[in-house]
Amino acid sequence: MFVLNVNGESKSVEVPDDMPLLWVLRDVIGLTGTKFGCGIAQCGACTVHLDGAAVRSCVLPVAAAVGKAITTIEGVGATAVGKKVQQAWLDIEVVQCGYCQPGQIMSATALLAATPEPSDAEIDVAMAGNICRCGTYVRIRDAIKQAATGKKLVPQTLPNEAPASTAAVLPFVRVEGVA
Ligand code: FES
Ligand code: FES
Repeated sequence: MFVLNVNGESKSVEVPDDMPLLWVLRDVIGLTGTKFGCGIAQCGACTVHLDGAAVRSCVLPVAAAVGKAITTIEGVGATAVGKKVQQAWLDIEVVQCGYCQPGQIMSATALLAATPEPSDAEIDVAMAGNICRCGTYVRIRDAIKQAATGKKLVPQTLPNEAPASTAAVLPFVRVEGVA
């Protein structure tokens, strides 16, 4: 039996030592916000925090998480940084299908907790392991910048007609001084 600290709560689980933490969280504890994508640490969908650091729970044996603070997408909003990141995600309407987004938010929160005002290059490095099949990368970066700086970005009004290219609907205008 293992005792895990998940989102500030103590959870006892009867599982094999080598069961990936992802399956313990989803199937045993019932926290299904963390997603399974590739299962081989390549897509970032399963990202959770272990003592604040972003880890890929699909390849992390549960035994390695004992004694550490595990935070999932269900609990990250209780942290000051996680709350700001989630609000920015909502304000900028980052999500498309949403499947990758719990992992994106966890990676972004870990980045901002360690580096409160990251450069574009630092954002790119920190987020490089999170794949989005919908291509929300531009808005993800904008949301991270909003969470970091507090400067609000608002979605650009979409044209009535279908855009000539996807790029036409992706940009957001920066509005200085909007509270
Ligand atoms: S499911 Fe873990 S990195 Fe893809
Ligand atoms: S929002 Fe669809 S995979 Fe990222």
